[in-house]
Amino acid sequence: MKFRAAIAVIAAAGLDQVLAIVVECPIESDFRPLSAGQFIEAANPGWNAGNTLDAVPNEGSWNNAPLQNSTLTHVKAAGYKSVRIPVTYADHFVSGSPEWKINSTWLQRVSDVVDMATSQGLYVITNMHHDSWSWADVSKPDANQTMIQEKFYASWLQIAKTLSCKSAMVAFEPINEPPGTTEEHAGHLDKLNKLFLKALGETGGYNSQRVVTLSNLGMGADRIQLFKRPENITNPWAYQFHFYSPYDFIFSAWGKTVWGSPADKAAVVAELTSVRGNFSASDSDVPILLGEFDASQLNLEPAARWKWFDFVVRTAKSLGMTTVLWDNGLDNLDRQTGIWRDKIAVDITMAVLRGENNSLADSTTDASATTQESSAYAFNKVGNTVTDKTLPFIMNGNNFTNLTLGSTLLKEGEDYTLGESAVTLKQAFLSKYLHATAEPGTKANITVSFSAGAQSQIELVQWDVPTLSWYSVPAKEIAKGSDLQIPITWKGLHRVAAVKIATTEGAYLFDDWTQYLPDLQKGRGTFNSQWNFDHDRVIITKAAVEAVVASGKNTTFTFEFYPRAAGNGNVVQYTLTA
Ligand SMILES: *[C@@H]1O[C@H](CO)[C@@H](O)[C@H](O)[C@H]1NC(C)=O
Ligand SMILES: *[C@@H]1O[C@H](CO)[C@@H](O)[C@H](O)[C@H]1NC(C)=O
Ligand SMILES: *[C@@H]1O[C@H](CO)[C@@H](O)[C@H](O)[C@H]1NC(C)=O
Ligand SMILES: *[C@@H]1O[C@H](CO)[C@@H](O)[C@H](O)[C@H]1NC(C)=O
Ligand SMILES: *[C@@H]1O[C@H](CO)[C@@H](O)[C@H](O)[C@H]1NC(C)=O
Ligand SMILES: *[C@@H]1O[C@H](CO)[C@@H](O)[C@H](O)[C@H]1NC(C)=O
Ligand SMILES: *[C@@H]1O[C@H](CO)[C@@H](O)[C@H](O)[C@H]1NC(C)=O
Ligand SMILES: *[C@@H]1O[C@H](CO)[C@@H](O)[C@H](O)[C@H]1NC(C)=O
Ligand SMILES: *[C@@H]1O[C@H](CO)[C@@H](O)[C@H](O)[C@H]1NC(C)=O
Ligand SMILES: *[C@@H]1O[C@H](CO)[C@@H](O)[C@H](O)[C@H]1NC(C)=O
Repeated sequence: MKFRAAIAVIAAAGLDQVLAIVVECPIESDFRPLSAGQFIEAANPGWNAGNTLDAVPNEGSWNNAPLQNSTLTHVKAAGYKSVRIPVTYADHFVSGSPEWKINSTWLQRVSDVVDMATSQGLYVITNMHHDSWSWADVSKPDANQTMIQEKFYASWLQIAKTLSCKSAMVAFEPINEPPGTTEEHAGHLDKLNKLFLKALGETGGYNSQRVVTLSNLGMGADRIQLFKRPENITNPWAYQFHFYSPYDFIFSAWGKTVWGSPADKAAVVAELTSVRGNFSASDSDVPILLGEFDASQLNLEPAARWKWFDFVVRTAKSLGMTTVLWDNGLDNLDRQTGIWRDKIAVDITMAVLRGENNSLADSTTDASATTQESSAYAFNKVGNTVTDKTLPFIMNGNNFTNLTLGSTLLKEGEDYTLGESAVTLKQAFLSKYLHATAEPGTKANITVSFSAGAQSQIELVQWDVPTLSWYSVPAKEIAKGSDLQIPITWKGLHRVAAVKIATTEGAYLFDDWTQYLPDLQKGRGTFNSQWNFDHDRVIITKAAVEAVVASGKNTTFTFEFYPRAAGNGNVVQYTLTA
């Protein structure tokens, strides 16, 4: 009933003006209809232009400059076939109820960016993005559903009209990650989906034939039972969901810095399979878009990350799902230089989609181990004499072909020897970079090539325990509402692995249940929530500072670095006194 009422309100209030002009596309425009299956298959893999047109209040407001065509050239060159263009409209309305006019300059910008992508042969999925956090949040107790429906419908009439003559390479997604958990919220979302489809039907152009994606509340792999498939939908449609699992690994929570155990893999399979399972035979095989996923090189150990990318993309592929990498502009492509911050993860993705096996740097998968090994690195501690290092690889049926350092081909026998599934870097070779008195830091990167699949990398790292500018401060001296930023002198990798947070009496300040986790996870906090780091500082967040003040307990933050091993001393302790 509310649905009909909302439409009546809109009609009465005079959206007729927007509705009046049904777009007719120029005769020369090119629209060859695609089924949802054809679109989803052709769009694999995709890249998200994240934190860009979705930034609030405007494109350029966050960490990325306005999107340039050259950025998409880099995306295309890496092998991506599509780009998801998230767009936040919230701060671009120039009138209120009932017209909700969107600034025409902004609509034109969206149209131009869509053209940039299609001009390079990239498929496009564009949406309404962070509006779901603000005015379009149907789950807020005081939400005015009439207003949300009116504004959402008016918005999509304008967006759809603007993009109505774009080619069939352009697909629409109504709204990103709509909040909500209940049947009632799902009912509201269903109304929005219907208004979105109605707007496409009414704007003319090619919109009634255009591929759309629809989703559940939150867009995770859960809550799918609450998803209502709109009845009598005429647009070809795919289902879209997002995947950032397991939470503890992806978000560096509770000291989980390893990935790849049989249980880890089974969890990925179970989650993706359950999404697929909701759209099988009876739904005449709705194609599925995995519209966001990422494991960031900023905070994650590379061997674990590479295994995760290989396995997630491989599993998605086996279920016929197309994957679209999330990129906030810090994680993946450096948009200024065109350099991929983790090209190996990109190449792993491409090799999976070509049907090749990747050989992968092996690493510890058992969370209860007290040492975390990784074949992405050869470490040597200052003061130690380097020895031969044997690094295992997961070959997956490939053979090693060669090892290179820059343009130099390393000599088998002299610089390294090969086992069936391991590389041994010889002491004589390693000692050119790693020896007792070498300065700490990254020394060289060896590229490892295989008979198929992506290349891998072994980074030679000389390390010592980092130092901080100071080691203690009274919590009350930190300005209210501020993070505590402590300058650090890195002595190896510039990355924090985990942070243990415990009172000087030994109690865990957060998540007391972590006492039941393995030794390398007990009492560890969560990246971003309680700790962080940047190029020259480690950070205790304001939330953690406030928790110390509230507890009245002197609290020690033990920052841990790679290599992670019980008793190797690669930690620094910082105490906040209460
Ligand atoms: C529309 O956006 C442009 C560019 O940001 C701005 O200059 C203009 O003032 C906006 N128009 C209105 C009516 O707000
Ligand atoms: C974007 O760059 C590509 C490749 O250089 C070019 O073909 C295309 O015309 C450009 N598109 C726009 C909108 O400038
Ligand atoms: C809810 O939104 C409608 C449409 O914009 C508006 O007419 C109505 O006054 C709003 N109700 C409240 C309680 O704000
Ligand atoms: C869908 O179509 C069927 C058969 O034409 C019809 O009975 C039904 O009312 C339609 N449902 C909606 C929501 O329009
Ligand atoms: C559908 O998805 C839900 C999670 O939302 C899951 O529990 C259920 O097992 C899935 N159904 C099938 C048949 O896979
Ligand atoms: C790919 O790897 C899987 C798992 O290790 C293996 O079973 C399969 O034989 C490999 N395929 C090829 C072509 O090497
Ligand atoms: C790997 O090497 C073995 C032994 O030389 C050879 O039999 C096999 O064919 C090679 N496999 C590939 C994929 O090159
Ligand atoms: C190393 O092996 C890769 C993959 O087999 C090959 O493409 C490349 O040309 C080789 N490099 C050298 C320097 O031989
Ligand atoms: C090795 O590669 C990493 C990125 O994977 C980079 O941060 C580091 O600077 C490189 N080291 C050298 C010596 O080039
Ligand atoms: C907390 O640390 C301060 C400074 O070191 C010290 O004076 C105080 O006694 C400590 N409080 C407790 C309860 O240990």
